[in-house]
Formats: sequence, structure tokens, C-alpha cells
Amino acid sequence: MADNQNTTQNIIAPNNDLEIVKKNFPHCFDKSGDFDFEKFKKELTTSEINFSKESYGMDWLGKSYARLLATDPAKTLIKEDIDWNEKQENKNSENLLIKGDNLEVLKHLSNAYHEKVKMIYIDPPYNTGSDGFVYEDDRKFTVEQFSELAGVDEEQAKKILSFVNSKSNSHSAWLTFMYPRLYIAKQLLKDDGVIFVSIDDNEVAQLRILMDEIFGEENFVGQILWKRKKEISSDSKKIAIQGEYVLCFSKTLKAEINNELLSDEYIKKSYNEPNKIYTKGKWRPVPITVSKGLSGGGYNYSIKTPTGKIHDKLWAYPEYGYKELLEKGLIYFGVDGNAIPQKIIYLHESSGQTISNYWDNVATNKEGKKEILDFFQDINLFDTAKPSKLIKKIISLATTSNDLILDFFAGSGTTGDAVMQLNAEDRANGKEGNRKYILVQLPELIDPKKNKTAYDFVKNELGVDEPTIFEITKERLVRAGKKIDDKSGFKIFETQPIWEDYEFEAKEFDAQTKLFDESKLSSEDLQTLLTTWKTYDNISLTESLKNVDLEGYTGYYGNGRLYLMNKGFETKNLKALLNKIDEDTTFNPISIIVFGYHFRSKVLREIAENVSNYANKKKLDIDFITRY
Ligand SMILES: C[S@@+](CC[C@H](N)C(=O)[O-])C[C@H]1O[C@@H](n2cnc3c(N)ncnc32)[C@H](O)[C@@H]1O
Repeated sequence: MADNQNTTQNIIAPNNDLEIVKKNFPHCFDKSGDFDFEKFKKELTTSEINFSKESYGMDWLGKSYARLLATDPAKTLIKEDIDWNEKQENKNSENLLIKGDNLEVLKHLSNAYHEKVKMIYIDPPYNTGSDGFVYEDDRKFTVEQFSELAGVDEEQAKKILSFVNSKSNSHSAWLTFMYPRLYIAKQLLKDDGVIFVSIDDNEVAQLRILMDEIFGEENFVGQILWKRKKEISSDSKKIAIQGEYVLCFSKTLKAEINNELLSDEYIKKSYNEPNKIYTKGKWRPVPITVSKGLSGGGYNYSIKTPTGKIHDKLWAYPEYGYKELLEKGLIYFGVDGNAIPQKIIYLHESSGQTISNYWDNVATNKEGKKEILDFFQDINLFDTAKPSKLIKKIISLATTSNDLILDFFAGSGTTGDAVMQLNAEDRANGKEGNRKYILVQLPELIDPKKNKTAYDFVKNELGVDEPTIFEITKERLVRAGKKIDDKSGFKIFETQPIWEDYEFEAKEFDAQTKLFDESKLSSEDLQTLLTTWKTYDNISLTESLKNVDLEGYTGYYGNGRLYLMNKGFETKNLKALLNKIDEDTTFNPISIIVFGYHFRSKVLREIAENVSNYANKKKLDIDFITRY
């Protein structure tokens, strides 16, 4: 039996923080990899570090449970919608729509998309009391298991488990829901990545402190107040609600927020039309004087205007700098040539303006609703769609043409629509326009009692027996693409439960005593296992593996990994494999991963020995892994 083994149940979001500590403080780990906290503490006390005097944070019933969920392995597999993905319009797409609970999906994405995402936008349930949010999951920890895994005593474990099973919509329940999702989302962000979260008064206070804890207070970027409706209505007895928030945090201080393009209104108000003197385009004068009190600033000299008036002031430029501007025709003395000189800025040279945290003119929720009505011939399929203009504005603040954008509460898919629109605008302006999106949406059932029109539309028009919101997301993306002639398409994947009785069997690691009946697995099941594994092994969902022929036996190869999933591997196939490693310059595996249930122990041993002992011509150091 090969010594390197693992299981499908190993899919855990990598704990990057621990990796960083390991990399930088290897001497604080003992031989067996255990962390010596006392040593680490000493290390910090000897370095020049200021310890925070006050410890401030948020605690809630369920926090230990939420932490466990963030690091607990995925309980599902990830399956490809092959028919959809092979369609001409989708087969080369790098956009993804994934059906499933986003916590599971984020876990699946956590290796292949680790630090790949530039920007995340989410619009989670606001927990308004009437939006249907209740905490629910299908984890079935026993009191003993949970107490051990979370490091709490059994009495506490009992209390927490009874709370998470109580279908609560308290602040604690909402925080328990959000914590693990945000925790993994952070791992997916690039170092210069940014996350935006829509929220309203119900949970904004909790969310801000939660995000402080997960992202670090120093990475708080801003809290935007967005005017979501124009009317002042009586939805609150004391202060009417017109706005909601978008919280923004960055992964690290490396992140930047793009300037906003100047609005037409602003340009009209502030810029002059070109004239005989300032011919290069729209222009506006800006002061070059400096206030006296400003520390260290300013150069004092006299400037004579064309009409002969002398201005003796503190200027922002030294005299030679001023003269250069004058020679270039960039100094303005007012209409009569007599005023205090100012510098000319041309509109085409402007880099836009810093974004403000007050957005009162972006489009309202009504427009979001109208977009849905327009897409679906006046059928109201989805109530809480954001206007695409809002999401476009958010995306443009934190991405450029080629970035990857994630929304794991996709709803009607506005984020995908906004990405396509921005790409089209970029292309129209001669830029690349190649942003990609990953959207995740739960197959949440549409209740015919609550929204009969949506239910009927999905059932009758889209032909889906069990109508869910996912079908609305999918159809919106298709229609939004068609509307602007976007040809980027999207691929569909979904989570599916691991087969019954697989979990127990996999732990046994013993292919001799066949506990799991692998003959139950169809070829589609094997493909699903392969898709799950390749994502776990850092191969993106949109990257296809190549079929590799080893004298009649088919293996699957991509990104340095060779997967041997099928039955029937024999000595002649092993020979073909070793030969291919030597001869094929495009075939350079660093790992060979075999599906343990399809190989007899003797064959496993034979491959393992040959792979480790065979001195291949390329001197590749190949790992051999048996996986169940
Ligand atoms: C407020 S809506 C998002 C609306 C979206 N921004 C739009 O413009 O259409 C939140 C969505 O998240 C989905 N959702 C809730 N819990 C989820 C979960 N655990 N995993 C994936 N999606 C979930 C809901 O079904 C709902 O469609």
C-alpha cells in the first residue's frame, strides 16, 4: 500500500494565517508540527511590537460553532453540468454559476481560487424579521463531537447545539451564519482585493464589528450610505428609512480604490468649453495659491498679470515651475486677464475624483425591480434585486479589465449582469473588457403561495419541475448577455451530497476489506469525484483536464496532476506511463493521484514503487497519492 493517502472528506479551507506563522516562525513549531505558543509569545515580546492595551471584540452564543464551520471539511462533492458546459457558447467560458449552499461552495473554491479573487460583492439576507432568515444547517454534530472539536465543555456544547438547531433569527444566529462565509471569503481575496457587503440598519452594527474581527480594523475602507429609495414613507414610526449601507474592507493595506469618473453633471457645472486659447478640450482653472498657515508649504514671489497687475502671494509652485506652466499656456488670469493666476486642467487629463461615502444619486431599488420586469416581460420574478448601476459602480471602484469578481449571494444575478455591462463599456472604449464572475446561488424553492407568478414562470416557461431561485439567476444571466450581445457565456456546477455510507468507508483506508461498494458509482459519479478533487488540487473549475492514453487505459491530466480513476490499470499501462513521463515534453506530472477503490493493493504498491524508484529522464520528483 502506498503511504501517501487522503480522502475526499479532506476538503478544508486552507488556514492561511497558520501557514504564514509557520513560514515566518518555523522554530515555534516542534518536531511533530505542534505549535509552541509560549515560545511564540516570547519571540513577540523581544521584537518591537506594541501590544494593544485593551482587548475589544464581539462574542455571541454560537461563535465557537461558527469557527468550527469555517474550518470543518466540506460535506459535499462538486458536480459539473456537462450538457450546459459543452454548449458552444459556454465551453470556453471562465464565468461560473454554482448551485448550492455558499458555505459548501466556498470550501470547494478555497484551494483553486485561493487569493485569485480581486473583488467580492455580497448582498446577504438582512435579517429584517420578515425576510425569512433563520439559521439552519445540516451538520449533525453530537454533543461529544462538538465539545471535542470546538474545545468547549459538554454543557456548553449542549447549549450551543440546541441554539443552532432552534431555527433562530437572532443577531447571534445571523452572526453564526455570516462568520464562516466571510472567513473563507477572505482567503479567496487577493492581497490587494476588496470586499463590499450590502446591509441595512438591522445588522449593520453587528456586521461592522464582525468584519473588523475577520479582516482587521485597519483594513476598514469605508461605510457607504446608499439612497435606496427616493420617497419618504412611513416604514418607520420615528425616522423614515431612505438609505442602506455598503460596508467595504480590504484584505490588506495594498488594496486601492479607483477614482470615480466625473459625472456629466459635474463636468457641465465645472468645466469650460474649449476656446481660442485653451484649444485642447474642456478645461477648468484650479487655484495655485497656498493658505498661509499651512506648514512648510508655499513659495513667495510676485506675479505680474498680462494687464500689469501684481499679485504677491504664497504659491504652490516655485517660480521656475510657475514659469514652465506659463510657457505651456496652462495659466489662466481670468476673463479680463487681471485675476489671481490659476492653473488649467483639461478634462481628458483628469483621473476622476475620490469616491465619497454618500451615494444619493446612483439608482434606487425601484430600478432594480424594473430591470427584472424588463427582462421577464413584466413578470415580477424577484423582489430584492439591486439596480445594476449600483453594482457597476461598486465593481468599478475595485477592479480593472481582467479581474475576477465573486458574489456568493447571487439572487437574480445582478452582479453577473453588471460585470458583462462593464466589459462591454470597456470594449467600447478600446480596453480589454475581460472581467470574469463567479456567482453562487442556493437552489431555494420558490413558494407558490408567496410568489405564484415566479413559480409558474419557472415551471412552465423554463420547464423546471421544482422551481428554485437558481433558475431565475441562470435565466437572468442568459437574457442579460443576449441584451448586450455578450458572448462570454458561463459554466454551471453544483454541490451534491457525498454518497451515503462513503464517509465511514473512506476513513477505513483499507482497500482489502472492501467496505464501500464502488460498483455503485456510475461514470458520471467518477467525473464528479474528479471535478471535486481537481478543484481541491488547485485546478480551477473552468480548466478541463486532458485525457491521457496509457496503452488503452485513460488517465486525466492537468496542472501537473495525473488522475487514475478508472479500473483495469495493468503493468502494460504502468510501462506506458513511465515511458510517457520520459518522452512527452508536455507531460510533467508532479503528483499521481489514484482512486484507491479501483486499484488492488498489489497494483498500488507496484505503481508507488515504480514511481518512486524509477529515475525518470526529466528528474521529476513525483508524489504518489492514493485517495478515497
Ligand atoms: C438579497 S438576495 C441577493 C440579491 C442580489 N443582489 C440581486 O441583485 O438580485 C440574497 C440571495 O442569497 C440567497 N442565499 C441565501 N442563503 C444562501 C446560501 N446559504 N447560499 C447561497 N445563496 C443563499 C437567497 O436565495 C437570495 O437569492
